[in-house]
Amino acid sequence: MHIFHSIADLRSYLRLQRQQGKTVGFVPTMGALHEGHLSLIEASKAQNDLSVCSIFVNPIQFNNPDDLARYPRTLDSDCAMLAPAGCDAVFAPSAEEMYGKATASDAYAKPILKFDFGTLEHVMEGQFRPGHFNGVGIVVSKLFNIVQPDRTYFGQKDLQQVAVVRQMMIDLGFQIELHPCPTLREPDGLAMSSRNRNLTVEERAIAPHIFKGLSLAKSLLLSGRPPAEVKREITAHFEQQPAFRLEYFEIVDAHSLQTIEAMADAGQTALCIAAHLGKVRLIDNVVF
Ligand code: PAJ
Repeated sequence: MHIFHSIADLRSYLRLQRQQGKTVGFVPTMGALHEGHLSLIEASKAQNDLSVCSIFVNPIQFNNPDDLARYPRTLDSDCAMLAPAGCDAVFAPSAEEMYGKATASDAYAKPILKFDFGTLEHVMEGQFRPGHFNGVGIVVSKLFNIVQPDRTYFGQKDLQQVAVVRQMMIDLGFQIELHPCPTLREPDGLAMSSRNRNLTVEERAIAPHIFKGLSLAKSLLLSGRPPAEVKREITAHFEQQPAFRLEYFEIVDAHSLQTIEAMADAGQTALCIAAHLGKVRLIDNVVF
């Protein structure tokens, strides 16, 4: 497995591979890898001659400096997972390599371009993480330009991210196939996440309530209960559990991310949740 820190080195490696007619699959990540990330590499390996994984803790998508500082940086153990998974190349740039030379006040040059994803970003995660999807849009479009893959793989765990990236690819005309992949879960239902390692033993024991809440909501909706009623019931369910601080629970159309009044209003329904458990913010969703 090749490990690149410079854009120029990655580009010349990929140019050679493409000259040999190889197709390229791309999995962008921020590292601290787990089985969920590896499932994206597996999906890429199944469809492409070559799989590239980027590991970059993108500073401009964090609206909370503590969250950025606390984000685990584990390049060596990440690479030790990626090599046996069959990843061909890792791209792990510094912030300066991605965004340009440091200025007096910052460790890298902040991009001037801004993305506005309109209704896609003014809901759910966007409401609680101002500027987050701008940062995701900038880094993902830049990574797409650097890697120029044939296919790219994203987890449905970050449903709103998939919607934003899909729109960005349409608006900018990227000729890349976007493959959303299912959420990998622990045996007790907790969605795998790099943030789970920050939970205390007690918090980890109750964390599966998030997925239980989503599963309960799904069964209520499928039994014919109206979305507004289910939303009230699930919100009350979390209010009764003082360890959790619910940020949102929304019943939306999986593509437009807009709230639905009735199940028939959505092509696919998505139930999306964000909650704080101690110092950790967890998100999850189910789509059906
Ligand atoms: P990160 O949180 O590292 O996630 C990288 C990819 O792994 C994302 O597509 C995410 O949805 C997927 N993923 C995370 N947990 C998963 C799980 N349990 N099952 C399946 N897939 C899972 O998302 C980002 O990084 C960043 O925003 C990024 C796109 C790299 C841009 O900086």
